[in-house]
Amino acid sequence: MFEFTVEHQQGRARVAKFHTPRGAVTTPMFMPVGTQGTVKGISPQELLDIGSQMILGNTYHLMLRPGEALVQAHGGLPGFTAYPGPFLTDSGGFQVMSLGHMRKITEEGVTFKSHLDGSLVHLTPERSIQVQEALGADVIMAFDECPPFPAEREYIQHSLERTVRWLDRCVAVKTSDRQALFAIVQGGVHEDLRQQSVNLTLPFDTPGFAIGGLAVGESKAEMFPAVSFTAALLPESKPRYLMGVGHPEDLVAGIALGVDMFDCVYPTRTGRFGYALTDDGRLNMNSSAPRTELRPLDETCDCYACRHYTRAYLAHLIRAEEMLAPRMLSLHNLRYLHYLVERARTAIAEGKFHEWATVWGERYFKGKI
Ligand code: GUN
Ligand code: ZN
Repeated sequence: MFEFTVEHQQGRARVAKFHTPRGAVTTPMFMPVGTQGTVKGISPQELLDIGSQMILGNTYHLMLRPGEALVQAHGGLPGFTAYPGPFLTDSGGFQVMSLGHMRKITEEGVTFKSHLDGSLVHLTPERSIQVQEALGADVIMAFDECPPFPAEREYIQHSLERTVRWLDRCVAVKTSDRQALFAIVQGGVHEDLRQQSVNLTLPFDTPGFAIGGLAVGESKAEMFPAVSFTAALLPESKPRYLMGVGHPEDLVAGIALGVDMFDCVYPTRTGRFGYALTDDGRLNMNSSAPRTELRPLDETCDCYACRHYTRAYLAHLIRAEEMLAPRMLSLHNLRYLHYLVERARTAIAEGKFHEWATVWGERYFKGKI
C-alpha cells in the first residue's frame, strides 16, 4: 500500500505510479478540488470521463457542514459523493487562515469563528486527524500552519517549528494504516528555512511530502526558486505534492522541478467566471470575439463541451446566465489540465520533456510576454 514507483525520469521530471487503497494513480497528476464534497458543477461520472484520478476534500468545510459523522455514515467520502476513486483531504489549518474569523493560534491548535454561523470552533492536530479518519480519504494531510505572505522571518521560523511539533502529534494519534499521512514542509520563500523544515520533517519518513506555504501572494519569481530548492531536498522515492498550485504554466514548471501532485481551484473558478484554458492561453469567453466563432473552445480537446458546442453557443449561454455555461467551462478547464499533465507524462516517457515544454510555453505565452 502507498508504494511509489518511478517509471520514467528525465532530469528531475518523473512519471510514477502511486498505489492507494482505492486504486493506483499515475503522476504527475492534477487533483480537482471538491471542497464541500463536490467538484463544483461536475458529476463523478464526468470526472472519470475526463481522466480525473484523485479528488481533494476539505476538513475545514466538511467538519462544519455537514459534520464528519454524516460523511462517515456513508462509508466516507466515496460513499457520500459517489466518486469511486481515491481522495485526499487537506487538514484544515490553511482554510482556517483564509476563511475563519477571529483566529487565535496557540501551541494547542487554532480557535476560530465558523464562516457559516459564527460559532467558536477549535481545531488541533488531534481533531484534524480524527475528522480526516472519519472522512476516510486515502491520503490525509498533517495539520500545519501556513504563514501569510509577507510574514516576518522570525514568525516563519517559529511557525515551521510548530508545524513539526504538530506533525509529531498527528503521527501519534493516527490509527488507520489504510490512510497515508503526508507531512507538509513550510519555510516561506527562504531557502535556509525550507532546509530547516525539510531537515526536521524527513525523519518522520511519511509516505509523501507536501510543499506548503506557496501561492499565497508571493511573485512567481519568488515561488519557483522555493519550489526548486525544496523539491530537490525531498526524497526521490516519495511523492511530492505542491499545494494549491495549478495554473497551466505552474504545472509544467513544477513537473520540470520534480513535483508529482498538484491541486487548485483555478480551473473550476476561472471557468465559472467565463474563462477557458487553451494551448493559446486563457480565452475570455465574456469578450465579443467568441460570440460569433463556430469552432470549439479548443480544437484538440476531447471534452464533452469541445466535442459538441461552438464557442458562440457557450458565449450565448454565458450571456443568458444559463447554468450549463459554468459547468461546461469547468469541465473543459479540468480536462485541459488533465490532458496537459498527460502530455507531460508522455514527453517524459519519450525523453522529450524539455522540448515539449518549450514548444508548449512558446505557444501558450505567444504575444503575452
Ligand atoms: N493549501 C495550499 N497551501 C497550503 C498549506 O500551506 N497548507 C495546507 N494545509 N494546505 C494548503
Ligand atoms: Zn474541451
